[in-house]
Amino acid sequence: MAHPTLFITGSSKPLHGSIEVRGAKNDILKGLAASLLVSGKVAYTNIPHIEDVDRTLELLESLGVSVHSDGARKMTVDASHINGHILRRDIAEQMRASIVLAGPVLARKGRVRFPFPGGCVLGKRPIDLFMNGWRAMGARVRMIGDEYEFSARKLKGADITFYKVSVTGTEAMMLTAVLAHGTTVLRNAALEPEIPHLADFLNASGARIVGAGTPTITIEGTGGQLLKGGATFETLPDRIEAGSFAALVAARGGKVKITHCNPEHLAVPIEILREIGVRVTTGKDFMIVERAGKLKPIDIIKTREYPGFPTDLQAPFAIIMTQAHGASLIFETIFEGRMVFIDDLNRMGAYITMCDPHRILVNGPTELQGRRMESPDIRAGLAFVIAAAIAKGHTILEGIYKIDRGYEKIEQRLRRIGVDIGRKKS
Ligand code: EPU
Repeated sequence: MAHPTLFITGSSKPLHGSIEVRGAKNDILKGLAASLLVSGKVAYTNIPHIEDVDRTLELLESLGVSVHSDGARKMTVDASHINGHILRRDIAEQMRASIVLAGPVLARKGRVRFPFPGGCVLGKRPIDLFMNGWRAMGARVRMIGDEYEFSARKLKGADITFYKVSVTGTEAMMLTAVLAHGTTVLRNAALEPEIPHLADFLNASGARIVGAGTPTITIEGTGGQLLKGGATFETLPDRIEAGSFAALVAARGGKVKITHCNPEHLAVPIEILREIGVRVTTGKDFMIVERAGKLKPIDIIKTREYPGFPTDLQAPFAIIMTQAHGASLIFETIFEGRMVFIDDLNRMGAYITMCDPHRILVNGPTELQGRRMESPDIRAGLAFVIAAAIAKGHTILEGIYKIDRGYEKIEQRLRRIGVDIGRKKS
């Protein structure tokens, strides 16, 4: 079978024009899971055309959910009748976000079966927080082969404290608690913008959730009563895509308007860009990124839960720092296996030292040289595209399904701002 590849010819020519940001993968996937709590139709808008959305729709359809496309970026989903409790193994084990479907299926069918959820290899990524939460709500777990089966005749509200902050952990427990009997309190919850957005949608459908976007979320369960249809889930703009486009402009130079985004969700990355000498002006739904002069190094970029610097922008920002005049420390605090991508960058000519699995020292400026590489995960995959766009010569990037999982036709949009990039079938 022919595997598509991206062909990129790097340059130092300034980028120009404008580029549009699509809906966020990590928002729409949780919004689609929420359809399982609703009797009636749910409308979705600003849907990105990405592989993970297609896989999630396939998972939903295999449970009996009907999906209707309403034209570009719009669809209607109806989960009034679902007839399965098993998450398709071939999909669930490739996609971490599949675990957010489990709670709603458990609430609807009294049981749910799924494999260990896969996805990008960023470290161990255990599921203990999910297991603790479902157990606290009265579910029992047994293993069927190497799959988990949770069952509960009745889910009851519980007081759940996360011992560490987890984005999908918070979302999964919020989704599970909506149909439970009694009140659930989630403590030490994650604050990412996708979480209050999901809660707003659920509340518009009749749920009673208070405090989403703060560390303590309270959910008054409906006691098994499904939510009502009719609400619209408008996918948030992808803050990681917007931040990655900004990183590309910072690394290569030029002036680009990034549209259809929400700069408020990127406050810390924008501040870091300004700190290193990039000019960023923002409006309500756009930002203009301009870099003409030299880039300065920065003491430290430390990933943190929202509103801190997002781990998903760590690799794109490492590329920028290869062009800064001096050494910059990048400290990854969320995942223990997310810095392995630097080996490929060093093979391109970067001078990055790994201090320990969580910290790298990026020495700049270095001239990068294009080469044949493979995309390691969704976010580092786009970082490699950025590296290739500023490198000398040609890069062939393989394994780009991983980029297509999260970014819609990336080459078409990048071409419009001056990147020499194309896709080939083999
Ligand atoms: N963790 C546990 N136990 C659990 C769950 C998480 O120890 O039961 C750990 C993780 O291993 C990690 C930390 O807690 O060390 C935080 O992970 P979190 O659960 O917040 O990550 P996630 O929910 O699996 C989401 C995004 C990631 C993003 C992280 C951090 C989705 C589908 N994924 O993952 O996005 O990096 O939050 O912001 O929302 C991506 O889109 O490419 C991606 C990796």
